[in-house]
Amino acid sequence: MGLLVPILLALLASLFGGLFLLGAFRRRRPNEPPLDRGPIPWLGHVLEFRRDTAKFLERMRKKHGDIFTVQLGGNYFTFLMDPSSFGAVVKEARAKLDFNAFARKLVIRVFGYTPMENESKFSHVSNNRHLMGDGLVLLTESMMKNLQNLMLHSVGKGGDQKTWIEDELFMYSYNIVFRAGYLSLYGNVSSREAGSTEKSFEMDRMQSDELFKEFRKYDQYFPKLAYGVLSPRERFEVKKLLRLFWKTLSLQVFKNKDNPSGWVNELQQTREDLGMKEFMQDRYMFLILWASQGNTGPAAFWLLLYLMKHPEAMAAVRGEVDRVVTESGQDVRVGGSIVNLTYDMIQKTPVLDSALEETLRLTAAPVLTRAVMEDMKLKMADGSEYQIRQADRVSLFPYTAVQIDPEIHPDPLSFKYDRFLNPDGSKKTDFYKNGKKLRYYTMPWGAGVSMCPGRFFATNEMKQFVFFMILYFDFELKNPKEETPDIDRTRWGFGAMQPTRDIGFRYRLRL
Ligand code: HEM
Repeated sequence: MGLLVPILLALLASLFGGLFLLGAFRRRRPNEPPLDRGPIPWLGHVLEFRRDTAKFLERMRKKHGDIFTVQLGGNYFTFLMDPSSFGAVVKEARAKLDFNAFARKLVIRVFGYTPMENESKFSHVSNNRHLMGDGLVLLTESMMKNLQNLMLHSVGKGGDQKTWIEDELFMYSYNIVFRAGYLSLYGNVSSREAGSTEKSFEMDRMQSDELFKEFRKYDQYFPKLAYGVLSPRERFEVKKLLRLFWKTLSLQVFKNKDNPSGWVNELQQTREDLGMKEFMQDRYMFLILWASQGNTGPAAFWLLLYLMKHPEAMAAVRGEVDRVVTESGQDVRVGGSIVNLTYDMIQKTPVLDSALEETLRLTAAPVLTRAVMEDMKLKMADGSEYQIRQADRVSLFPYTAVQIDPEIHPDPLSFKYDRFLNPDGSKKTDFYKNGKKLRYYTMPWGAGVSMCPGRFFATNEMKQFVFFMILYFDFELKNPKEETPDIDRTRWGFGAMQPTRDIGFRYRLRL
């Protein structure tokens, strides 16, 4: 009896301690956003969130309004759904809301990469130097050459050029854009090593195709990997894939490539100069492959599909492509040389720009998250203020909050290629909510410190792909009446969305 009381007390203490750690006692304090802990201790709402993020957040918005805090896998996330108030998060100082503190944990877990101190400062310099300005021109030129190698290598080589080839549009677009992007960033097989330029082109085609196939496997595991819910067998598979990528993209391989991009070169060199271990540098090489190649191919697929599904959009883009090529003094004809699609040419395409912006509005859906570094106040556009706790997270999901809001974008689920065009043909940037002009009216690239540094290159890549498709191929859907595939809802939050199924199309060279 004497022992029973202390044992019972100890059990009770550990039970309460456990429940405390599981967040069961958290209560909403004065001035905090509405709190919704969810049905399961610690996990909170994560199952519903993972099943369909957009639907879950819409349900929470209806229940609680434009700001609320939910528990997801042991962490408390405050979601802000009022786009007029986004500035309060996007522009907040790093001392209060920090992207890197959040991203660091994710990349350690998902890519096995441990970032350096001040990692983002160094990357920022390389991003500005190589993904913008003159660096971007060089990278875009390199992309053009690689696209030519992958898409047009058989032009003018005889053979049966006119045969229709049947394929799946998602895999086709992702494959081409991934491979050309990869070759442009990581360089080409050295022609000295290959024996000739022709042979190195052929090896580039072959090796990039093999890499794409493996990348696709990792890409399909990605949502489960990010949520930490892989089965033991899947975890084993992912580890095997990671080892393969680390080897294929290793420093040793990279150093033997011709034409590596200034961007990857400098990112790698900085880490080497700062004494990062070689195996960690190899891991970094895969992290940037994923950041740079995981979104552009899927987005290029949606763009091409929407154009094929909307003949008036395709005709407008085709007209623009033809005009730009004619104005450059070039043409597409049998026996002629392949069009030299310069950086300047693809800057003169307001119609294609609008179609691309519209595609991303409908299909790019990142969750943007910051770690809360100290207790702070979040001020909404209507003047109300909310207290946010240190160690929580603050997130935006612009897809629901902005991109498909019918007040901002009428008939929001329809593709309108000219939605981002003014009647005079210039870029439209005036969009309103509650009568107020919005600064953030579509956010496929995120915003603030973590805004995608590759957005200009990604835009160019997709435009170059569409240019070459239109200039050099006849292409059509196998069944034009087949419905546009649904978005795969398990991937909300990870950037460009993928379809639930592929869609058949056929293409043939025009020359
Ligand atoms: C359609 C294509 C793309 C989309 C939709 C996209 C979208 C995004 C988004 C939303 C973020 C911010 C994530 C966050 O705040 O949590 C991001 C970050 C990033 N993107 Fe992109 N991206 C694309 C293509 C590219 C390309 C082609 C590159 C490189 C050449 C690139 C490099 C990066 C990098 C390095 C980051 C991390 C930035 C940081 O840590 O501060 N992206 N991207």
